[in-house]
Amino acid sequence: MIKEKKLSRRDLILDAGKVGIGAVGAAGLLNFIPKPAMAKEAQQLPWPYEKLDPEEVGKIAYDGWYKAFCSYGVATGLLTPLQKKIGEPYTLLPIEGLRLGEGGLVGWGTLCGSLLGATVAVGFIAPYDAGKQIMNEMLQWYSDTQLPIYKPANPKATVAVQTTSNSPLCHLSVGKWCQKAGKSLGSPERKDRCARLTADVAMKTAMLLNDWKDGKFKSTLKHPSAIYGITAQHNCNECHPNKIPDVIK
Ligand code: HEC
Repeated sequence: MIKEKKLSRRDLILDAGKVGIGAVGAAGLLNFIPKPAMAKEAQQLPWPYEKLDPEEVGKIAYDGWYKAFCSYGVATGLLTPLQKKIGEPYTLLPIEGLRLGEGGLVGWGTLCGSLLGATVAVGFIAPYDAGKQIMNEMLQWYSDTQLPIYKPANPKATVAVQTTSNSPLCHLSVGKWCQKAGKSLGSPERKDRCARLTADVAMKTAMLLNDWKDGKFKSTLKHPSAIYGITAQHNCNECHPNKIPDVIK
């Protein structure tokens, strides 16, 4: 279990204020009143896809984090180039509506918002079965990989420390990094760490989507729910250090 010695409850509340966690993202959705013909086009899934340049995606995602954080960052990294290449239906989507994913969903530390942004984009781009497998690979990769990897051209802070989260949860991902780096949630380093990680997730998603487009994406990875008989992450022991409970007693 991680100790939260450097993150007091007071720090967390103050830092949440500083990063502007609040119910501001939904306002964008009010502008989304498509004309009937457009609405019909947007309802047809999957939307057309053209292969993306991962470097371009990473740069947009990194800059996007500083505009509206992780979910928005990944979604804008993936979808803005498609808005330019393809136009509608991508241009019908006000990506700012994804801002509420910040902080593992408005600071609750659940699913890392970057993965929420990726999920939404993949949900429009790939058919259901392929999308499900792509996101399964993404969550495994996110959990197993030393992050962040991305090196911005103009970094806003120095990020020397990488960590493996063993989990797609924001709480564990951010907490383990803060602890190893000795930096608070509100520090410029932690913010840049999350901006870089946002670029990493967007780029990896673009690469998997490109493989899928080329017919090269193959995955036999099982979903945790199919392995454990409960929706879960693999790191049972971290949260159940004494005994992993039986699903059915
Ligand atoms: C991120 C933390 C976390 C992880 C990882 C995790 N669990 Fe849990 N799990 C919990 C918490 C918290 C509860 C609620 C415990 C309680 O109410 O005493 C819980 C409850 C459960 C329950 C319901 C029964 C009970 O005792 O509450 C089962 C079954 C369970 N977990 C199994 C698993 C298995 C199997 C895995 C790994 C595949 C796993 N968990 C991974 C945090 C976690």
